Amino acid sequence: MQTHQYEALIVGGGVAGLMAALYASRGAKTAVISKLYPSRSHTGAAQGGIGAALGNLEEDRPEWHAFDTVKGGDYLSDQNAALVLAEEAIDAVIELEHLGLPFDRTEDGRISQRRFGGHTSGFGGQPVRRACHAADRTGHMILQTLYQQCIKNEVKFFDEFHVIDMIRNGDTVVGVIAVNIDSGELHVFHSKAVLFATGGWGRVWEITSNAHALTGDGNAITYRRGVPMQDMEFFQFHPTGIYKMGILITEGVRGEGGVLLNDRGERFMERYAPSIKDLASRDVVSRAIYLEMKGKRGIKGQRYVHLDITPETVNRYLAEAGDDRRITREYVESKLPDILDFCRTYLGVDPVKEPMPVQPTAHYGMGGIPTDLDGRAVIDAQGTPLPGLYAAGECACVSVHGANRLGTNSLTDLIVFGRRSGKHMAEFCQGAEFTPLPDNPTGEIEAELERLRQANGSRKPYELRNEMQQVMMEDVGVFRTAEGMQQAVDTMRKLKEEYQTNLSIDDRGQRFNSDLYEAWELGCLLDIAEVTAVSALARKESRGAHSREDFPKRNDETWMVHTLAYQTEDGSVALNHEKPVDMSLAEKDEKFVPKERVY
Ligand code: FUM
Repeated sequence: MQTHQYEALIVGGGVAGLMAALYASRGAKTAVISKLYPSRSHTGAAQGGIGAALGNLEEDRPEWHAFDTVKGGDYLSDQNAALVLAEEAIDAVIELEHLGLPFDRTEDGRISQRRFGGHTSGFGGQPVRRACHAADRTGHMILQTLYQQCIKNEVKFFDEFHVIDMIRNGDTVVGVIAVNIDSGELHVFHSKAVLFATGGWGRVWEITSNAHALTGDGNAITYRRGVPMQDMEFFQFHPTGIYKMGILITEGVRGEGGVLLNDRGERFMERYAPSIKDLASRDVVSRAIYLEMKGKRGIKGQRYVHLDITPETVNRYLAEAGDDRRITREYVESKLPDILDFCRTYLGVDPVKEPMPVQPTAHYGMGGIPTDLDGRAVIDAQGTPLPGLYAAGECACVSVHGANRLGTNSLTDLIVFGRRSGKHMAEFCQGAEFTPLPDNPTGEIEAELERLRQANGSRKPYELRNEMQQVMMEDVGVFRTAEGMQQAVDTMRKLKEEYQTNLSIDDRGQRFNSDLYEAWELGCLLDIAEVTAVSALARKESRGAHSREDFPKRNDETWMVHTLAYQTEDGSVALNHEKPVDMSLAEKDEKFVPKERVY
């Protein structure tokens, strides 16, 4: 077993991790550990844009961006975090431009911007162009740009090293344990500060836009080591995934004028969000699609609707609205090349000639490892930091997205809070000594890996995973009931029991044992699914992405609080609802006081 020592360790090679690494490496010896090659990280799948109120095409302001974020989050966003996000986004996007990111351009050479769901001018007025984009490959471009910058800055990369445990010495986090996927050997990484940036956990659900690697590793690891998970009941379904496959079709399609149509050819969003229609926030649009399907207005009575970006349809709606803009096939080809490619390749559908079949797809976790505004992980309702531990990006919950994230705010979150975390880590490392490692840091995880490697029960990991995904999709999806969620809780407990007592894997080898790592990842998914279902069952209201048929209204009196979920000694989930929501903007400005959301 090898031991490495770095002052700052970053777990995860997506954009949050790379931005943090870039900044940490300016003041501390820094390494990134990633189970993938960083350029394959899931940020590469972020398509439509990064939100920043640059105002390049029309007036925009950071306070409008903060307002939209808080309203989009159904008032569960911490308002101080929303303001930081909106204000620092502008400078962060310009920094990316200066680092070499090839954004699309306006005619006069500035960063091009497009409309996206829930982004409005004048505190909830008309749609505004706020999404800065590089065609429909914005995440991919940011990822490549930052990876190059990290290499230039001599960040050390441990690629295809899978982090499977975090090391604590008492109340301090002192490193992580990773397995080298190639050799199967365990490596101990000793550090002054660790940042988890391991992304999301969309693989809990059957239909998802998330890559196979998105199994919530960082969340499960820290949870097992005493860190709570916050607001896990809020998981976003993106309205437009490719039917049955879940692959993302960017909201940028609707930002460019695309419309959602039901089996009768009706633009049904006119009924659900009369003001901004197809550009309402994602929770609203996903629910509308489900209601259309429930009302038998899915296409051919099936569980999908149409997303239409054909110039004929878009131009007709533009003309009807008195809008002078017109789009052409060439325009669509240049602005949305990847999604055209996906549809032509996977469906044999050409979106410039015919509509795309879409359904809501599990997309993004609003909850995660609770942090403060500098990315320090906090472990209680009072915001007490756990020394040496940071988190950023989707696995973290700085609580900017509240109950429902706005499109493009994920990339903004990665950049803004990745940067703040990296800066803070560098300062922290400069003032801190290494805390010694505890005795035998690998003992527990070595035993667990060996148990999995030798597992010879009768249930394959994929069988348990399929059952988990189907139940979570049905019972902890877009619409929820107490009965369904209770059934999900019971199923997750049963599956966890089977995972412990009746699992079977085939490969008992050391090298590239994907069977073993998939089994380990399944353990993470099951922990997260259980926490999600338990947290959802307890929240007796509807808010943002958590929509209960038995409690259809938002209840600010009781539920304007964050959920913290802890793992108890016997492995079950204990909830705490004492963490307040930051309302600092509402205290100064009536516009930020919670209201019923109307789009
Ligand atoms: O629709 C999209 O392009 C997705 C963006 C996001 O999740 O922010």
